[in-house]
Amino acid sequence: MLRKLKSFDLQSKRVLIRVDFNVPIKNDIVVDDYRIRKTIPTIKHCIDQGAKVILMSHLGRPKGKINSKLSLMPAGEKLAELLEMPLKFSHDCISDDAINVSHNLQSGEVHLLENLRFYNEETDNDSQFSINLSKHGEIFINDAFGTAHREHASNVGIVKHFMNKGMGLLIEKELEFLSETLEDPFLPLLLIIGGAKIDTKIDVINHFLGLADNIIIGGAMANTFLAANGYHMGKSLVESDKIDVAKKILLSASKTKTKIILPTDFTGELNNIGSEEFEHTDKENVKKNMICQDIGQSSIDLFKSIISDSKTIFWNGTVGIAENKKFAVGTESIIDEIVDTECISVIGGGDTVAAVRNYNDELLSKLSHASTGGGACLELLSGKKLPAIKILDKK
Ligand code: 3PG
Repeated sequence: MLRKLKSFDLQSKRVLIRVDFNVPIKNDIVVDDYRIRKTIPTIKHCIDQGAKVILMSHLGRPKGKINSKLSLMPAGEKLAELLEMPLKFSHDCISDDAINVSHNLQSGEVHLLENLRFYNEETDNDSQFSINLSKHGEIFINDAFGTAHREHASNVGIVKHFMNKGMGLLIEKELEFLSETLEDPFLPLLLIIGGAKIDTKIDVINHFLGLADNIIIGGAMANTFLAANGYHMGKSLVESDKIDVAKKILLSASKTKTKIILPTDFTGELNNIGSEEFEHTDKENVKKNMICQDIGQSSIDLFKSIISDSKTIFWNGTVGIAENKKFAVGTESIIDEIVDTECISVIGGGDTVAAVRNYNDELLSKLSHASTGGGACLELLSGKKLPAIKILDKK
């Protein structure tokens, strides 16, 4: 049984928590604190229960080298601001000094360790490194959902060194929405998939075939599907080596109850991205020099009608180049429709969550769940087990 945080007696215990503070940082300032904010309930619960809290995370991919640009110090500053209290910070995650700081913590204090990936041993899942990390705590809690698809020392190797181990409140919530909801979803079930590359989403689409009533495909990926159906997509991004994959998916879908819905029209620019020569056209008439960058109004209307009929919606990937306001119309219309529809709504992937936040941060709380995971979210939605969660489940 996967043990929940709230089942532990935490009073005066050293609780070592794996968090995912892999957040964007510019000029030593955290520019998106979503993942940090999402760990606050777990950290606050531990503090309120009188625990001594030790936090560990990776940041970026420093490949075993100390890199001051990838220090977790700015994440610590952000966390201190959110918790409204000072923290202790150690510049090395396994030094004797760092371990002493953890052992001398008072109840309610928080100690953040420096970037785990300054050691290659972290990503190598080195057993001695796991042992060294485990010295910080008496209870191990994993709340790093975004990293749960990795098999590293701090989330997999470490587990066997603890009798008392479990998941934090964030992982509990992620599993509730990304896994349990899918076991017995309210129907109709809709999957909206966007983004550019088929490879990254193919397992999710395949997993939803036969399960979902509808799959809407948008973003550049839709171009490849339309090309597979024989449409000319002009100068739009098409993965020509994936046309056969798209054909196979369309054929598989036709043998299930799942309908695949593709855009029917587009907006974009002529000649080059940034040319400002805008064009709107339906899928039959994409000009040779057109670059499709967003879905058009008929597609929006079609997608909205499917969304409003759905009772459970999973969404990963924007349907246009949403970071450019001119091509965010399709994505923003989808957001509006989802929040107006009475349904279980789950979104995932950094781009999708960022698109909602850039459009209107307040709308995020109107969704049932916005995942903190990228790769981990996709793997779970593909029906795979995440190694860091699987191992916590073992006796
Ligand atoms: C993520 O952002 O997806 C996680 O933090 C994992 O990071 P990684 O892809 O560098 O392992």
